[in-house]
Amino acid sequence: MKRRDLLQMTPGAVLGLSACSSKDALASLVSSSASGRGQSPLQSVKMPPNTQYRPPAYANQGLRNPNMNLPTAFSGSAISYSRGSSAYANVAMTFDDGPHPTNTPRLLDMLRKRNIRATFYVIGGNVDRYPHIARRIVAEGHEIGNHTYTHRKLTSLSESEVRKEMRRTQDAIVRATGVKPRTMRPPYGALFQRQRQMLFSEFNYPTIMWSVDPQDWRRPGPSVVTSRILSGANNGAIILAHDLHAPTVTAMPATFDGLLSRGYNFITVSQLLAQKG
Ligand code: NI
Repeated sequence: MKRRDLLQMTPGAVLGLSACSSKDALASLVSSSASGRGQSPLQSVKMPPNTQYRPPAYANQGLRNPNMNLPTAFSGSAISYSRGSSAYANVAMTFDDGPHPTNTPRLLDMLRKRNIRATFYVIGGNVDRYPHIARRIVAEGHEIGNHTYTHRKLTSLSESEVRKEMRRTQDAIVRATGVKPRTMRPPYGALFQRQRQMLFSEFNYPTIMWSVDPQDWRRPGPSVVTSRILSGANNGAIILAHDLHAPTVTAMPATFDGLLSRGYNFITVSQLLAQKG
């Protein structure tokens, strides 16, 4: 029974009595009990104050990620990563293609409840559409990364077009949140080596791929998304998901709790790269 339901019940309902007869029935209960002992039970009950009493914690507070106060400054020379160090039981959850007006706030609530920081690879056009959500992402301690402005396949663009995609998105993120993205992820994972080199030298962006892909964009259903992530995760995993898709967000409570109960801690991509050294 929910606590609220209990509070809304009348005393008669709690005793299993109908509302109209509750007063009479209660009176007869008291009098029969009183006659058995020869005094009023209400006067005979003397309880010392219970100093040991503590209000119960709310039931099922749920699993919680520990505070992961790790460095975020990375200085590796690699221009591309698909995972972090396997020496630690840490994983990085990444969410692409947002911000989305309803899915992203729903996801942020789930993350906040569990003290999890994630990394959001946002589309610049969506940041301009929903700057307040981008702000909330950063305000709640998550990392924000560059996922282009129009989500076009970068391997089909000229170098100057790629540059423009990155620049426009970076500007939109800085405008909305005040912070500069530190990594990028190419749409569809498509990026030539020379393009990665250019983004690293001109923007200081390492290219971030992934090691676990639940193929959630195919919409296999929330439970499949969860089981694919749980079976694919290991130390240092970078997990790909999309907050663009409602069923993906629906899959996240079981996914987060499943990973936490298996002993994984959640950190951001920058924290993962800093650990890699
Ligand atoms: Ni994408």
